[in-house]
Amino acid sequence: MGKAFLKVASIYFTIGVLAGITMAIIHDFRLASVHAHINMLGWVSMAIFGLIYHFFRKQPTRSW
Ligand code: HEM
Repeated sequence: MGKAFLKVASIYFTIGVLAGITMAIIHDFRLASVHAHINMLGWVSMAIFGLIYHFFRKQPTRSW
């Protein structure tokens, strides 16, 4: 589950950064909030979810 979130996060990161670079090159910042949300929700949040799933796994319960 953690790895899946990190994979999705990296896809959002690629899209978000490409959008940022494109905005900067063409000097058109109308999509700045779209860029911000792709990066913050897509990349940052998904990466945090992935790390939490990875590092806070459910401990196996003991049968004795
Ligand atoms: C190569 C990477 C990036 C480039 C070239 C880039 C470029 C830009 C540009 C041109 C703007 C608009 C600035 C303006 O309106 O004057 C912007 C805004 C913003 N970017 Fe990026 N960005 C990059 C990566 C990131 C990343 C990784 C994040 C978050 C994790 C991020 C978060 C934001 C936020 C929160 C804003 C403000 C949006 C707003 O004012 O509505 N950016 N970025």
